Amino acid sequence: MPRNFLTLEDLSANELHALLRRAVAMKSEWRERRLRASLPGRTLAMIFEKSSTRTRVSFETAMAHLGGHAIFLSPTDTQLGRGEPPEDTARVLSQMVDCIMVRTHAHERLERFARAAGVPVINGLSDMHHPCQLLADMQTYLEQRGEISGRRVAWVGDGNNVCNSYIHAAALLGFDLHLACPPGYLPEPSVLAAARGRVVVGHDAPAAVSGADLVVTDVWASMGQEEEAAQRRAAFAPYQVSAELMGRARPDALFMHCLPAHRGEEVSADVIDGTHSVVWAEAGNRLHSQKALLEFLLG
Ligand code: CP
Ligand code: NVA
Repeated sequence: MPRNFLTLEDLSANELHALLRRAVAMKSEWRERRLRASLPGRTLAMIFEKSSTRTRVSFETAMAHLGGHAIFLSPTDTQLGRGEPPEDTARVLSQMVDCIMVRTHAHERLERFARAAGVPVINGLSDMHHPCQLLADMQTYLEQRGEISGRRVAWVGDGNNVCNSYIHAAALLGFDLHLACPPGYLPEPSVLAAARGRVVVGHDAPAAVSGADLVVTDVWASMGQEEEAAQRRAAFAPYQVSAELMGRARPDALFMHCLPAHRGEEVSADVIDGTHSVVWAEAGNRLHSQKALLEFLLG
């Protein structure tokens, strides 16, 4: 059975620690032009049923750096858009490529791809999880501040796919995650149940951010929720990560956002463009952490 990466829980804590250390090393090796092309001739198929900038470019570049190749597939120009079942697509691709990355709406659809595939399947974002984002975020924290275990992380905003992956990360890496989500926008109970006592659920942003080492937020309306945007803007208005809110965190706290961001909504411009923010390093680390992931799954 191939190893998949559908959620962060597909890795053990030891594997995740090792993967993050490897990502840091691969970044240095790449900068010093001594990164070994460890996946020559290998091919990654990338199915994008939603838009992407970072995920597409980072996976495609990662495969190029490792000596392999990536193929971008969208529903508009594959048979997926004309109703070919995900299982058949997965079986066919598995005859030809070494790994399949899928970005889709329902997590169950991703699981259907994975069950039928004969090669590793990577979650490039589903409505439930975004584990690749957490690899980059945790690499960034490690590089900037050292081990995250025992630290305090505040998630402010929607209990969404990225938040769910933060809950998994808290349990695996041993940090305390304080959530401040508007009533009605908490994470899935099934994900919270896996939190192993590491997550404090609440609705109070100043309380969650107080004393935090890392403050994280994300858009108020995720891809596929465009029709709810106006209703969400009203519900989330008290949850903007402003300079005043950030001032409650530790003086050396970091600010992260998976991007794309909406300045003036979930985060003020002076925070995302300010001194606490590490969003560009975070985005850049998608490249390095996913190289480590590809090497782990295919090496
Ligand atoms: N953070 C992230 O996944 O960005 P993209 O949607 O641009 O891939
Ligand atoms: N929660 C966002 C993340 C985008 C990278 C979304 O799903 O649209």
